[in-house]
Amino acid sequence: MVVCGAGLLREPAPFVCRSQTAVAAQRRTPQRRTPQLAQLKALTPCASRTALTATRFPSSQIVTLSEFIAQAEALEQHVTEQLRSTDLAARLDVVKGEVNALKDQRLAALQSAIPKLESHDRKPGGIRFNELKQRLQAELDAFIDRQNAAGGNAVVVDLTMPARQSWRGSLHPVSMVIDEISDIFRELGFTIALGPEAETAFYNFGALNFPPDHPAMELHDTLYLGQDTLLRTHTSPVQVRTLQQYAPPVRVLCPGQVYRRDFFDATHAPAFMQIEGLAIDEGISFVDLKATLSQFARRFYGGSRRVRFGPSYFPFVEPGAQMDVEVDLNDGKGLRWVEILGCGMVHPHVLQAAGVDQEKYTGWAFGMGPARIAMSRHDIPDIRLLYDSDVRFLEQFAQ
Ligand code: DAH
Repeated sequence: MVVCGAGLLREPAPFVCRSQTAVAAQRRTPQRRTPQLAQLKALTPCASRTALTATRFPSSQIVTLSEFIAQAEALEQHVTEQLRSTDLAARLDVVKGEVNALKDQRLAALQSAIPKLESHDRKPGGIRFNELKQRLQAELDAFIDRQNAAGGNAVVVDLTMPARQSWRGSLHPVSMVIDEISDIFRELGFTIALGPEAETAFYNFGALNFPPDHPAMELHDTLYLGQDTLLRTHTSPVQVRTLQQYAPPVRVLCPGQVYRRDFFDATHAPAFMQIEGLAIDEGISFVDLKATLSQFARRFYGGSRRVRFGPSYFPFVEPGAQMDVEVDLNDGKGLRWVEILGCGMVHPHVLQAAGVDQEKYTGWAFGMGPARIAMSRHDIPDIRLLYDSDVRFLEQFAQ
């Protein structure tokens, strides 16, 4: 006695009608697009016009040749009946997909039953199996012929189907912040200046009045490319480069990527954007700094926001300060002071290194991180989200 162990033959799982492309599309498509996909599927002919799917073969075990033949006949009859009643407007790829899936499922089960038949039954079983395969193929060919005769491989065009929404792309939230800040400063008379990301130690540190033993120059803080070149750790070197190129009065904004040997965690990234600002002219004082930066904060955060300045230290400014803005981080704790930039009066040593007449000119500078500003603005809890390139996250900020 031979017992067929293939569960499929006894209780085949119903074959679900879904084209390969629909399955693949759903795998690629984020969860929230599912309603669209469901709509699409409802409109495809496969759901309504073919019925190859609904079959349940009788539960049985193939033990004898006659049971084998009965199963083969049942399968043939089922496929034949269904193909003959399938709408000729059905999509051919869908119909083929269904037949093939059924073949994979049922033929494979039948085939695996052959070696388990009594030895003298195996040959007739094999012959019957090959016949069945050919007949199923012939039925499918006949369906294709009928479909061609009825006007070719008909593709159903549903004119009522909504168009797929095109994704036009959008600016990254950090780029949006940079653009907005640039627009405000442009109206205040600033132009954009750029500098290299691979910088020399002179521009990154020396010209900015860093003492030779400053910890920022240590290997564990800075990414060196060679003895004297490094990935700039801030955008401040663009101050010196700009002043070497253009005579004052100078008002520039310098956005750019900077690099530090930092861990990539919720609040740090080893590469991030900064925006530097520099204003050099005759008779510029700390009053100009406060007035301009307060004006910027009111424009960016809203007219009612308070700002405050406190002392801080950076080697390239004297006095150095930080500007805090009162912002609501939407965490239920209300308004609170958040530091948004460092600033100060440009140090005379910097003016000297840049070849600017320090008797005649003074100026102020600031530096800020647009990623942190974007995070506080949109309640983004982890800086890494900004670098993941996950479209589902980024498209929330699309305008
Ligand atoms: N370069 C500083 C940093 O990366 C930021 C900064 C502070 C820039 C004060 C300035 C400034 O121009 O005046 O932390």
